[in-house]
Amino acid sequence: MADSVVLANLSLLLLCIVATHLSTDPWPLITILLPCLFILAILLNYWLVPGGFAWRNHNQNSTKLRGPSGWPILGTLPSQMSPLAHRKLAAMASWHGATRLMAFSLGTTRAIISSHPETAKEILCGSSFSDRPMKISARLLMFERAIGFAPAGDYWRHLRRSAANYMFSPRRVSGLEALRQRVANEMLEGALKEMEGRGFVELRGIFQRGSLSNILESVFGSGLELEREECLGEMVREGYDLIAKFNWEDHLPLKFLDFQGVKRKCHRLAAKVNSVVGEMVKERKRAGEFSTGNDFLSALLSLPMEDRLSDSDMVAVLWEMIFRGTDNIAVLLEWIMARMVMHQDIQKKVQDELDTCVGNHRQVQDSDIPNLPYLQAIVKEVLRMHPPGPLLSWARLAVHDVHVGKILVPAGTTTMVNMWAITHDASIWKDPWVFRPERFIEEEVSIMGSDLRLAPFGSGRRVCPGRALGLATVHLWLGRLLHEFKWLPIESVDLSECLKLSLEMKTPLSCCMIRRCGIMSL
Ligand code: HEM
Repeated sequence: MADSVVLANLSLLLLCIVATHLSTDPWPLITILLPCLFILAILLNYWLVPGGFAWRNHNQNSTKLRGPSGWPILGTLPSQMSPLAHRKLAAMASWHGATRLMAFSLGTTRAIISSHPETAKEILCGSSFSDRPMKISARLLMFERAIGFAPAGDYWRHLRRSAANYMFSPRRVSGLEALRQRVANEMLEGALKEMEGRGFVELRGIFQRGSLSNILESVFGSGLELEREECLGEMVREGYDLIAKFNWEDHLPLKFLDFQGVKRKCHRLAAKVNSVVGEMVKERKRAGEFSTGNDFLSALLSLPMEDRLSDSDMVAVLWEMIFRGTDNIAVLLEWIMARMVMHQDIQKKVQDELDTCVGNHRQVQDSDIPNLPYLQAIVKEVLRMHPPGPLLSWARLAVHDVHVGKILVPAGTTTMVNMWAITHDASIWKDPWVFRPERFIEEEVSIMGSDLRLAPFGSGRRVCPGRALGLATVHLWLGRLLHEFKWLPIESVDLSECLKLSLEMKTPLSCCMIRRCGIMSL
């Protein structure tokens, strides 16, 4: 690539010389052509470098760095804005022979992406990438003060420790089984009602409502009024739209503008979150009795004085939990059910496993999950083929100059991992496009972050702290759905993807459900 820049510049220089010497009357050639060629030469110099415009001052890498030049100024922003950005980035990396590390430009933002387990490990597990680049919308929506975007210092460590102890500890996750069972009942009742009324079920809304009420109760405790629940649900949905929206200002020096009204809407939403969640914190404090509560808010309020968060930080942390705990689970369950509806043989096989392990006189419980390897394999296979965060949701930031392999990554570079590319790489996974849960029976693969061939929850210091809670919820709900009902297609399932905050099904899944004979159900 560097050679092509030199070549392009030399040819331009030659053209200029020829133009001036060959023309008998150099006017207007010289005055028009020369400045144009001059500007073009500068553009080529700045733009036609590996990785594009944002990498123009990092030529020390030029022999090793690979990546698309992209468009002048914009770089690969147009591809990044696509609902299939993960696929486009994977195709680019493979075209440039840069699966280990590809450089690219997002406007003026310098970025690299790994599509290989080894470099992915270096990035996710290295302490040099322990911060995240801040999106304007994330900052305005207060996530800077919550776990996901707080810089990796004392404050972030304190938040992660508190969340690990009071929100995600194994004791607390298992203590929330009764809640998960109740929500599963509500979801199945809702689905049955819809089936009776419409003759088919659209599962997305049911999973979204279920995940929301599940997380709300674990964060705020029981007894939340319906009106408040609906208001919080509305705020979460608006937040997803805002944060998923591509914002030009994140990558171009246009901070004084608000093209799409994102900043204005974020300010308005943050004020509403502060008022609604802030009021809930104040009410709980006034009530005074929080040492006996089993919810996260009570736990935060019971912390010793020296560890206690300010009210505004508490609002940010509670808001983040609701925000993160709703979408991923609903999206993952919809993909799993799509696969179950499509592959009736696999559905039958897991139902046989459920019948053998659970029998027909009771419902599935958390304690059954370790004895349901095929059910767990299905979840892993869906996480492999349809990871909710194909680009691991939030990028990382190089906090100082660091080498990844032989490539020098300068401080301030936005660093991403394309987990979707890794899980679809034929040199890593046999028949990567085939849905075959059996592969996880044949080989034990951990999905918790130690094996970078399949790390849907990320890895390293910033690995998802909610992964055990998320998996416990998905396993139990899936077990209940499949044990008690048979799920049938009404038309062929459309597996088209749409990358928003998570990788969603473009067309919501519609299917039919019928009770399974002889199984104890609702
Ligand atoms: C299927 C469910 C889930 C998936 C696939 C998922 C995925 C992820 C991923 C890929 C990351 C980035 C990790 C990294 O940078 O290495 C992440 C971070 C995070 N997740 Fe999850 N997640 C799930 C469930 C949850 C739940 C239920 C919660 C909380 C209620 C949660 C809270 C968080 C938080 C707070 C972070 C930021 C961690 C940090 O920056 O220190 N997640 N998640």
